[in-house]
Amino acid sequence: MANLEAHLRVPGPTPLPDAVREAGARQMVNHRGPEFAALMGRVVPALQRGFRTKNEILLVGASGTGGLEAAVVNHLSPGDPVLAVSIGAFGDRFAKIATRYGADVTVLPVEWGRAAEPDAVREAIAGMRREGRAPVAVLLTHNETSTGVTNPVEALAAAVREAAPEALLVVDAISGLGAVPFDTDGWGLDVVVTGSQKSWMVPPGLSMIAVSPRAWAAAERATMPRFYLDLKAHRDAAEKGSTPWTPPVSVCFQLDVALALIEAEGYPAIFARHAACGAATRAGLAALGFRLFADPAHASNTVTAALVPGEMDWKSFNADLRRRGLVLAGGQGKLTGLVFRVGHLGDVTVNQILAALEILEEALIAGGRPVDRGAALAAAVRAADAALAAGATATAPAGKGAAA
Ligand SMILES: Cc1ncc(COP(=O)(O)O)c(C=O)c1O
Repeated sequence: MANLEAHLRVPGPTPLPDAVREAGARQMVNHRGPEFAALMGRVVPALQRGFRTKNEILLVGASGTGGLEAAVVNHLSPGDPVLAVSIGAFGDRFAKIATRYGADVTVLPVEWGRAAEPDAVREAIAGMRREGRAPVAVLLTHNETSTGVTNPVEALAAAVREAAPEALLVVDAISGLGAVPFDTDGWGLDVVVTGSQKSWMVPPGLSMIAVSPRAWAAAERATMPRFYLDLKAHRDAAEKGSTPWTPPVSVCFQLDVALALIEAEGYPAIFARHAACGAATRAGLAALGFRLFADPAHASNTVTAALVPGEMDWKSFNADLRRRGLVLAGGQGKLTGLVFRVGHLGDVTVNQILAALEILEEALIAGGRPVDRGAALAAAVRAADAALAAGATATAPAGKGAAA
């Protein structure tokens, strides 16, 4: 039987390093006891270094969507004008959450496959101001997993600060943070949400949320209903080294181990590895004849979306890939059936990308498509080498243990 675990190439949950898997098998501890408090004492500062923030980081037992919901309900009130910048399915979801809780949401829709532009954000804010609805928060997606696009968050945040200095910057960084450069404090972000099952190499179950002093002040005034996701309750419990409700203790053990692995590798090396894997994936898929979906200027180094060729039956091709041991992700939302996605985040190497490309190549050849055998792997290796060389000459934006 094919070893499916070896080639799980979806954009989360990501494969677990052995040490992280083993940590999940540990005996329970009292989540109100000293062992758990010691764990929080290691995990939170390590996350602060990863987020590059001095802000508090709360561990919430929830998937990423729960973290986004927490970001909305803790800082907003019904009727609050909010600008949601959406570049894909997850941006739409963020806007929907805010709408569901009664915020007065204006969506700035960006063509899928492209990144948001600072000028468009400035204009959208100016438009809201003209209507007397200056946004109290702007919702941004860092890395749009449905399209494989990374937004220029630094430039977008600067545009928001200029056009609406009072607005909270609330960022879904679920599928990018930890894998590509990110600077919570340097970019002035107020609420940043990530999820354990992405670059952190941990199973699903924990959302990690950074909250700025401005956002805490907003939380005092915000009246959207909240109980389980009340971040103030999480903050109070964190002061005692715990969480307000029973946390996914095993996932916390695993996060502790994963963060130690991450810090041993160091963020500059991690970013370089992801840049190499992203470049290899894009070059390999292109050499296999697939058209890439994302604007190349903003292509994500954690997930790549490629168009399903018109004449290809994705379902049967995907079934063949699975038989050969490669698990990819399909399209989401309006891209269902139109694109497929390759995840390259977390515990991933260029060699693993080459293995995935090789399986894709075999399946294409078996399906009678004209493929130049070996060309994709050669292109992928060249692209990875070029990315590594380019990275070596660039200044690393985040260093090991750089913040906090
Ligand atoms: C950018 C982004 N936002 C939100 C989510 C939702 O996270 P979850 O599925 O953990 O609820 C995901 C998950 O893929 C994501 O990639």
